[in-house]
Amino acid sequence: MNRLNTAIKQMPQKPKKYFVDHKSVLHLGGQSLFPSVGKQEQRLDERKVAEEKRIELQGLSLLICAGVYKTGVDTELMIETTKQIQNKKFLEIGCGCGAISIYLAKNNKTGIAVDINELAVENTLKNCQLNNITNLQAQVSNVFENVKGKFDVIFCNPPYNEHDVRDNIDRMFWDPQNSMKEQFFMTVKNHLKKTGSIYFGWADFADLNFEFPISLAKLYGFKLVKTYSRPSSCSSFRFIVFKFKLA
Ligand SMILES: C[S@@+](CC[C@H](N)C(=O)[O-])C[C@H]1O[C@@H](n2cnc3c(N)ncnc32)[C@H](O)[C@@H]1O
Repeated sequence: MNRLNTAIKQMPQKPKKYFVDHKSVLHLGGQSLFPSVGKQEQRLDERKVAEEKRIELQGLSLLICAGVYKTGVDTELMIETTKQIQNKKFLEIGCGCGAISIYLAKNNKTGIAVDINELAVENTLKNCQLNNITNLQAQVSNVFENVKGKFDVIFCNPPYNEHDVRDNIDRMFWDPQNSMKEQFFMTVKNHLKKTGSIYFGWADFADLNFEFPISLAKLYGFKLVKTYSRPSSCSSFRFIVFKFKLA
């Protein structure tokens, strides 16, 4: 409530309109007032013109291209959770530069990595070559639209914030009407084997409803079986991975 009060105090004196929507995000004329969206806007502008960069992450050598999500503590936490997964068929929705899928590909049979942003898919293919990965297919897909088949494990580190986008690059952080996350839970059952598991990334930023993925998962017939978390390196919030199974 304190952050909400501070945000209200910081509003211009005569706002055109403001409202608190059903997911508890305070808006002013369509713009979210909490801090993460402002920071993300700045980071998006940087990502769009960024030089291609080579990084080392958990023993992988990876290229991060312009217009693609730069891996972070969230990616590393997702990778941590992959370590006990072996000899499975996996799918990743929203692969970015491919870090999580490439890590999975090293210990598993086959996998598919998809992203709505074609720059991310190209980046994933480059990283497969760089790491001699031949059992991972990468393709453009809006959530499950171009995905066929059932998988033992499905990974998704989604865009967390509900916000309009200017292009597909913005979707690394922003999910208009939370439609990607809703589509994910609405459709995932068609692609998950009966004993399969979902690993879903999240965070506890002030402008996120912490329970949102758990409620969505429950609504579509899944139960939470485990929660992994790690603090952000530079802020007070935490990154989370929820593991779900069919209820
Ligand atoms: C937070 S980034 C995570 C990237 C990568 N998995 C990682 O953890 O480093 C979210 C990714 O989801 C992708 N994405 C957003 N909306 C999507 C959609 N509707 N269908 C598929 N991918 C989507 C974005 O383009 C972005 O690459």
